[in-house]
Amino acid sequence: MKKNIVVLSLLLSPVFIYQACQREDSLLDGMDLNYTYSAEPVLPATPYKYDMGSDLQAQLGRVLFYDRALSYSRETSCGTCHQQELAFTDGKRFSDGFVGGKTSRNTPPIFNFARQKMEYFWDMRQNDLSDMVLDPIRHSVEMGFGNIDQLITRLNGIAYYAPLFKSAFGTEDITEQRMGVALSAFIQNIRSVNSDFDQMPIDNFSLAAQKGLSLFHSSGCTNCHGGSNFNNLSTGSSPVFGGGIGGGGWGGNGGSGGSSGIASIADFANIGLDLKYADAGIRQDVLNTKPNNKGEVATGDGHFKVPSLRNIALTAPYMHDGRFSSLEEVLNHYSSGVQNHPSLDERLKEHRMDANGNLIATKVKRLNFSTEDKVNLIAFLNTLTDNNLITDKRYSNPFLVQNP
Ligand code: HEC
Ligand code: HEC
Repeated sequence: MKKNIVVLSLLLSPVFIYQACQREDSLLDGMDLNYTYSAEPVLPATPYKYDMGSDLQAQLGRVLFYDRALSYSRETSCGTCHQQELAFTDGKRFSDGFVGGKTSRNTPPIFNFARQKMEYFWDMRQNDLSDMVLDPIRHSVEMGFGNIDQLITRLNGIAYYAPLFKSAFGTEDITEQRMGVALSAFIQNIRSVNSDFDQMPIDNFSLAAQKGLSLFHSSGCTNCHGGSNFNNLSTGSSPVFGGGIGGGGWGGNGGSGGSSGIASIADFANIGLDLKYADAGIRQDVLNTKPNNKGEVATGDGHFKVPSLRNIALTAPYMHDGRFSSLEEVLNHYSSGVQNHPSLDERLKEHRMDANGNLIATKVKRLNFSTEDKVNLIAFLNTLTDNNLITDKRYSNPFLVQNP
């Protein structure tokens, strides 16, 4: 009896009710309990300085990115799935979109797009960022507006947009094209260049991270995860890795991936996750447009864009379908799990030559990492985490205000 009273009074206590509501809100928004959502964006008196383009367009883009009014149900913003503290991912295998639907692929992070080839989505189907950023709004699962005009009508009724459009574009007139330009201005300014890997001489890394870095090279990871973004998509100069440099003589075979020329610079691959892929990945018509693909890659079967490894410690779960929940599971795949899929990338095969250099056998690479190898590789991958990216106010949610 006494117990029941305690439970009852606890249930009815304002504190409990307050906490329960707070908890529900935080589940809804994926937000911290110390914050509340304000109805209007709280913007700095002097606009933040961004690294490129117009600061005022980027500022408008930032507001659009975090505004839940951009979803039909007013529950989802871009920032719901692309959360700053997780390098603009959401920690989920598939994301919750509009009215409880799930996305069919894992949410990729967002950073350094200004320094990469323009190939968006896991299947590289989009190459125009200012058009691409409108896809999620149109997408029935993600944000649920079948018709952008409905959204424009809604934004016209929200008082803070007129001055934001005016300052960004010289006119209060809201158009689809201007929304795209502003969102892409914001996204292109999200930069990640301040990890330990960027800042610290390699000699100052922990011994484990130093060993991990050389193992990363010698295991041929750089054949695909090369260039300054670790995905062969980087444009401009690369501080440490050339895109697609040789595989370091894997198994005495002289770096099979590196030597095959065409495949070695490709920025997409089938990495043998399955013998039969549920998600076919890059479509044939998209593959046909790749200058590197001179017929070598015959089908779109299981080819996906090579993801960046920057901030990888923050972006679990991994792969296009989020199948691996930890980096150790990813390394187990490369160590012993690669399947001999008919389209398996050459860079994950081992080629055996006879004395005259003729190919006599091909088999799936087994990297056979020891426990220590895995610890070292993960120590190296952890040097790619950029705390600046996840705390920089310029990229943060202007609708979230810290509770006093
Ligand atoms: C419901 C979750 C969700 C929402 C909301 C969402 N996204 Fe995404 N985003 C994803 C998923 C999942 C993908 C990968 C889809 C694919 O590859 O087919 C993605 C991909 C992207 C990419 C491409 C990344 C890359 O590396 O290729 C960008 C850029 C992006 N989203 C920006 C946005 C913007 C801007 C908005 C708001 C207008 C938005 N997203 C809203 C889940 C979401
Ligand atoms: C043949 C090219 C290739 C090689 C070699 C390669 N990778 Fe990958 N990697 C990829 C592709 C493509 C994906 C995404 C595959 C998918 O989702 O279907 C990926 C995914 C990953 C991911 C998950 C990233 C994410 O955001 O989900 C990690 C971590 C990773 N690779 C690490 C490594 C390491 C470490 C090595 C060396 C042992 C390596 N890769 C070798 C092409 C490659």
